[in-house]
Amino acid sequence: MILVTGGAGYIGSHVNKELNKQGYETVVLDNLSYGHDDFVKWGILERVDLSNTREIRRIFQDYCLEAVMHFAAFTYVGESVQDPQKYYLNNLRNTLNLLESMLEFDVEKLVFSSTCATYGNPTEIPITEEHPQKPINPYGKGKHMVEQILTDYSSAYGLRCASLRYFNAAGADPEGELGERHDPETHLIPLVLDAASGKREDIKIFGTDYPTDDGTCIRDYIHVTDLADAHIKALKYLEDGGKSDVFNLGNGNGFSVKEVIEEARKVTGRKIKATETDRRPGDPPILVGSSKKAREILKWQPKYDELTRIIKTAWEWHERD
Ligand SMILES: NC(=O)c1ccc[n+]([C@@H]2O[C@H](COP(=O)([O-])OP(=O)(O)OC[C@H]3O[C@@H](n4cnc5c(N)ncnc54)[C@H](O)[C@@H]3O)[C@@H](O)[C@H]2O)c1
Repeated sequence: MILVTGGAGYIGSHVNKELNKQGYETVVLDNLSYGHDDFVKWGILERVDLSNTREIRRIFQDYCLEAVMHFAAFTYVGESVQDPQKYYLNNLRNTLNLLESMLEFDVEKLVFSSTCATYGNPTEIPITEEHPQKPINPYGKGKHMVEQILTDYSSAYGLRCASLRYFNAAGADPEGELGERHDPETHLIPLVLDAASGKREDIKIFGTDYPTDDGTCIRDYIHVTDLADAHIKALKYLEDGGKSDVFNLGNGNGFSVKEVIEEARKVTGRKIKATETDRRPGDPPILVGSSKKAREILKWQPKYDELTRIIKTAWEWHERD
């Protein structure tokens, strides 16, 4: 059985679906602080908080676990600057709680949700795994610390971990069963779609004077179903005896804020009002990753890499949810 922490959230729920499709049995551990019980349509849901070490131990005792996929975390970069303790306690200390039970119960395989935020402001594009990691906020710093802890635990205790550094997760399950439902929402595509459906008046463009073709920031959007596929491949890599390693997961193609808005106008057929405002502090002009390593070692190939398909699946979900 596979333990999926945070499996009631956006990415974890899509991976949980894919695991079950591939014949794995799953236990989802989620406190539903940001997750949704209707996203757990496969496997067993254990409503547990990762701060509760007694309950974590109970889960390791009750189920025969072969591996862990660890998505549970707080994910708001801005909030992590305002309230770093909240982030270090949940994303760092609670990860240590999970690792403690993994060691005690000899569960040695872990797929960890890391992030491109561990790189900080990039000095080279596309960003490879060798790029220096200089995170600029507590969210990115906490994830970087966990990566370092996993390296130490791998050498000392024989743990084997795939740390997957996602770029911007986007899109929704093409079969329409799952999608993005964050509250508050901070991600560009769902916000643009809110503007398309009239849930919000406009979409703000923060900065139009960046050194990019149209002056707006460029990001790498990776479809959540492609992320799910990469997780299965990372798990199989560990099952085949693969050593601890880190992999970027991105689309490799960057799209600017204006390109996303324009594509959303085409896909939805709706008017979307865009309001140009000043830059936000801390936004690098371009964040695009190289996923060459994941393609070569995990044999992973993103299938939903066109912006149209990413926005189309997100829009179908948006209109349904
Ligand atoms: N969404 C992105 O673009 C993105 C990019 C890079 C990395 N990530 C990482 O991927 C992971 C999943 O992100 P997401 O967008 O699906 O977020 P999400 O908020 O939708 O999912 C996180 C889930 O973890 C649960 N959770 C949080 N703290 C918990 C705790 N203490 N105990 C039990 N459950 C807890 C929440 O209830 C939620 O269901 C996170 O680790 C995030 O840092 C996300």
